[in-house]
Amino acid sequence: MAAPRDRVAHLLRQLQRAACQCPSHSHTYSQAPGLSPSGKTTDYAFEMAVSNIRYGAGVTKEVGMDLQNMGAKNVCLMTDKNLSQLPPIQTVMDSFVKNGINFKVYDNVRVEPTDRSFMEAIEFAKRGAFDAYVAMGGGSTIDTCKAANLYASSPDSDFLDYVNAPIGKGKPVTAPLKPLIAVPTTSGTGSETTGVAIFDYEHLKVKTGIASRAIKPTLGLIDPLHTLYLPERVIANSGFDVLCHALESYTALPYHMRSPCPANPVTRPAYQGSNPISDIWAVHALRIVAKYLKRAVRNPDDLEARSNMHLASAFAGIGFGNAGVHLCHGMSYPISGLVKTYKAKDYNVDHPLVPHGLSVVLTSPAVFTFTAQMSPERHLEMAEILGADTRTARIPDAGPILADTLRKFLFDLDVADGLAAIGYSKADIPALVKGTLPQVLITENGPRDPQTRNQNTGKGHQACTTPSVRRGSVCSV
Ligand SMILES: NC(=O)c1ccc[n+]([C@@H]2O[C@H](COP(=O)([O-])OP(=O)(O)OC[C@H]3O[C@@H](n4cnc5c(N)ncnc54)[C@H](O)[C@@H]3O)[C@@H](O)[C@H]2O)c1
Ligand SMILES: [Zn+2]
Repeated sequence: MAAPRDRVAHLLRQLQRAACQCPSHSHTYSQAPGLSPSGKTTDYAFEMAVSNIRYGAGVTKEVGMDLQNMGAKNVCLMTDKNLSQLPPIQTVMDSFVKNGINFKVYDNVRVEPTDRSFMEAIEFAKRGAFDAYVAMGGGSTIDTCKAANLYASSPDSDFLDYVNAPIGKGKPVTAPLKPLIAVPTTSGTGSETTGVAIFDYEHLKVKTGIASRAIKPTLGLIDPLHTLYLPERVIANSGFDVLCHALESYTALPYHMRSPCPANPVTRPAYQGSNPISDIWAVHALRIVAKYLKRAVRNPDDLEARSNMHLASAFAGIGFGNAGVHLCHGMSYPISGLVKTYKAKDYNVDHPLVPHGLSVVLTSPAVFTFTAQMSPERHLEMAEILGADTRTARIPDAGPILADTLRKFLFDLDVADGLAAIGYSKADIPALVKGTLPQVLITENGPRDPQTRNQNTGKGHQACTTPSVRRGSVCSV
């Protein structure tokens, strides 16, 4: 009879094989678990890290009590200029006053932050010597506050120390941070649940970020009442972000095929690849997007739809915050970083801006056409959730079916018509490719090797000639 350890190993192998071959989770990855095609050992574990979440209409009024319970004496409240003029921020300040919380306001957060705007917030945090932080706003504010907390808690670090490699050094965070309460006001990034902070690195004109479980908020207060102030395009674009978080995390490289296997759990990345727990959150978020996004965009008073989208944002955040995103996000970073003059409707800002959700979703039909062959059942399942009739669908058509379903879904929501509509032409493709290539942390999380750059010309993929979501030939660089 086999030794107990051998039997356990044998059973684990059987379980792993069974898990990968069930109808809805099968895929066409050819490598055996344990070894990547390059011969490096792959990971065998994944870890779920999520902020505590409290959800409820009006729950923001509890923030002062939370700070009191934490013993906070000197709090930094961060927001952006636009939100500082709107009622939600008053709810936070009223709760501070009612509970005797001392606080200072930083309202200079940049919408779509940069390294420079992060630095300004970091300086404010260092000078203030705060013992707790509250971030009220969308991803821009929450991410800025995470960075401020991180560098104020680790004052001798260089800015690039914690920035993702290869742009930064990607060092693990070991310094203890102060408590951070995030109050999201958009329905998109899920930043209240994640250990991720994204910014534009101005020097390279490309977005990158910091990804570490250590910077995730202590608590996310999800209060759907704030979403009633969201203008139409902000709710649409942030909804596109939720859509892509769900689609990308569900189709990411499976965690047990990611390499290398970390020698120490502290170096296991936040973006670990698709895994059974993230899958649940991704699929659930996608169902909510399918049911409620159009309603939420079209009717500002539809509290049911907007509340559900607010939750979907957190659900997708829990999924992608641990599984990671891949090609839509990897390509989005130069799309927003290289913005020329495009000014997004409904964004009250004084600089050109391609909103994050829009920059992500424009390539989605092309991305999922490209990735479908690795997990066609998953791609069909997502198309079905988004409204496609897949009863007679053929496996080889999974990519085009999902792409067509996405185009129709986005078209109904008045998405900008491809990269051309936001100011790019064919001549910009090499720069967009160049800006995507350093995003290895994200692109390597994709299920297929994205080496589509034309080796001879250095230019993008040949199919990039007519960027248009509606015509279905968006650049897949
Ligand atoms: N950390 C993460 O996990 C993560 C994930 C995805 C994206 N991001 C980043 O988040 C940023 C985008 O964040 P976002 O899409 O949440 O939007 P945002 O924070 O950039 O805000 C967009 C605009 O909406 C306004 N706004 C926000 N809430 C409002 C409300 N309730 N009523 C009226 N106006 C409101 C803001 O003032 C701003 O003008 C990008 O920098 C992106 O890269 C981070
Ligand atoms: Zn995103």
